[in-house]
Amino acid sequence: MIVSVFGMGHVGLITAVMLGRFFDVICVEIDEEKLIRLRGGEVIFYEPGFDQTFNKVRDKLEFTDDASYAINTSDISFIAVGTPTKTDHSQDHSYLASVLQSIGEALKEKDSRHLVVIKSTILPGTSENLVIPILEHSSGKKHGEGFSVLINPEFSREGEALHDLQTPDKIVIGAHDFSTMNDFEEILKMVYVKNNVPLIKTNYVNAEMIKYAQNAFLATKISFINTIANMCEKIPSADVEIISKALGLDHRISSHFLRAGLGYGGSCLPKDIEVLSNLGRKIGYEPTLLDVVALVNEHQPQRVVTTAEEHLGSLLDQVVSLLGLAFKPGTDDIREAPSLRVIESLLEKGAKVRVYDPKALSKVENIFGNLIEYYKSTEDCLDGSDCCILVTEWDEFRSLKPDIFLKMKTPFVIDGRRGISHISKVVEYHAVGLGKESQTLW
Ligand code: UDX
Repeated sequence: MIVSVFGMGHVGLITAVMLGRFFDVICVEIDEEKLIRLRGGEVIFYEPGFDQTFNKVRDKLEFTDDASYAINTSDISFIAVGTPTKTDHSQDHSYLASVLQSIGEALKEKDSRHLVVIKSTILPGTSENLVIPILEHSSGKKHGEGFSVLINPEFSREGEALHDLQTPDKIVIGAHDFSTMNDFEEILKMVYVKNNVPLIKTNYVNAEMIKYAQNAFLATKISFINTIANMCEKIPSADVEIISKALGLDHRISSHFLRAGLGYGGSCLPKDIEVLSNLGRKIGYEPTLLDVVALVNEHQPQRVVTTAEEHLGSLLDQVVSLLGLAFKPGTDDIREAPSLRVIESLLEKGAKVRVYDPKALSKVENIFGNLIEYYKSTEDCLDGSDCCILVTEWDEFRSLKPDIFLKMKTPFVIDGRRGISHISKVVEYHAVGLGKESQTLW
């Protein structure tokens, strides 16, 4: 069987590579520069272990910008184009609509039936009110006759995508008839190594809503534990790490997504909360909880800057070194990364900002240019600085020798991710969610 994948972003390329282990895959991308890089065998983002998997299946992948060729050569198309947020907080469907239009036009000429699988994150109602009407209009064919649409949301995480795609916790498919779901199930059985992956077969709106509800819940857990962490900082000897561990042992809560820090970033959680909340208002429900989750997250990066100010006084001309810039370890992605907020705030206060990250330096340089200084090692970044803030908990920071911090002018360290507590004895150590023994409560 030949399959096609539209949109070579993170989800699209990883999906194509996973499918390439079993099928020939036509990968459609309209960005010419991306296409050239992919044809040259370049992996266009950092994802641990991904380049080896990519190289193994490279012969099975064909990269093109020709939608008509892809539709006429394949039996199934996976759509993984981005659905960003507009300034009015609604979802931008322009990439999706444009891909659907070209698929529909190509379907006009096709005799056999085609299955269109939507992996892009779309709001409830989008399949029935946008996807199917565009395909019907541009192809001149009826849904269920010339083509079928199926929703298959993606739950994999950046940095863990290969693992998540091979052994997902669940698979959700939404369609309007069981025969389409059953055809797709046969393909899923070939792709997923793990047996007995729970399969939720449902209608379109539920499949669409599950993705938003899941990301909103994960974000809620993070803002919740950050709230507890912020209170712990004001309570002598309180430690959010111990509280979080205890909470996680209760199976009703689970230990995941209870790490306090500088808040959630990335291409999904912040955007999905914003769009879901906007939908709530549009359909007549005020989603207060979602708004508060987003608000807590918005304020969270600022807290480490406040801690620095409280202890150093004015930050004017103080040298502040940030360790880690990516929105989380294991990726070079800086979309909505808390580091960006921390840098902006430090610059506003007149600090001299130095940064180091194992993967994301060049992306941050594209934003801040010569406003800040970029270092290729932790050691150089810390040398002579007044304050260090751990922003992203890369493994290499966890194993840093404490002596390195003694190269700072004043070894004052704020651990924004609870990743370097092993240095707490040799520096003046402050951490998210850690109350100082010297504080008084009442
Ligand atoms: C997320 C969803 O988890 C995934 O299911 C969906 O397919 C895409 O969006 P991703 O954006 O890759 O995945 O990152 P994730 O691992 O969810 O982390 C999101 C953010 O939350 C990161 O900034 C991370 O540092 C932060 N986080 C996560 C915490 O602050 N505390 C935690 O306990 C967990």
